[in-house]
Amino acid sequence: MKRLYFDILDSTNEKAKRMLRNKEISSDTLIRALEQSSGKGRLGRSWLSKKGEGLYLSIIKEVDINKNPSILTVAAAIAVFKSLESFDVKDLGIKWPNDILIGSKKLCGILSELIEVDGRFFAIIGIGINVNNKSFSEDLTTKATSLFLENVYIDMMDLMDNLELSFEEVYNKVSDRWNLEKIVNFLNDHLIGIGNTVEFNYKGTKFLGIIDGINADGSLRIISEGRLMDIFSGEITLKGLYK
Ligand code: BTN
Repeated sequence: MKRLYFDILDSTNEKAKRMLRNKEISSDTLIRALEQSSGKGRLGRSWLSKKGEGLYLSIIKEVDINKNPSILTVAAAIAVFKSLESFDVKDLGIKWPNDILIGSKKLCGILSELIEVDGRFFAIIGIGINVNNKSFSEDLTTKATSLFLENVYIDMMDLMDNLELSFEEVYNKVSDRWNLEKIVNFLNDHLIGIGNTVEFNYKGTKFLGIIDGINADGSLRIISEGRLMDIFSGEITLKGLYK
């Protein structure tokens, strides 16, 4: 994979989009910034991106739009999980759709975006990992953690190298249907909240349900009011997770 490093960017995802549109990069590129001035999170949130605190990168892959590109987000979550596991990080879990937690606190977030350039589609998979953060603001302190706060030391460059390899490995597997099943099983084995009550939005209405698992297309299966519902996007609130 080709790598591009920057000291500071608004957002590695935004930079990736601009460079794709300008034909400055193509598939299989990794963009990293030491710092982001407008780091983006999911659902219009921002992502804290101070220099030296986290690993901020985006991976660009051309996708076949007919082959469920959202599986790439799932692949990224598994890649981060496996990479951290290989550094012996304990108590890891995956919260749907793609947060990596330690215990009940978020360590890593993933923001995947899809853009079209001249009829070709590219997935931009933005990954943010809290590495050296010594503390979080009052509203985040019960919800977020960093490797430092968990007493784990991993050199950021080593983490990035390992993560890239891990991503390629999982990516190659999800392109194959037989392996996809194994990948989904792996995800379900590490999914936080199976059997737990969850609050979610479905077509604008709030529901309570029980998490059943993740489907092969990356959607979340919830049992609510006696029936199965598949949730493709949005946010779920696990009852009793953050206390
Ligand atoms: C989330 O959990 O809300 C997703 C956070 C994603 C953050 C990463 S940091 C690198 C990339 N560039 C961004 O602007 N966002 C993603």
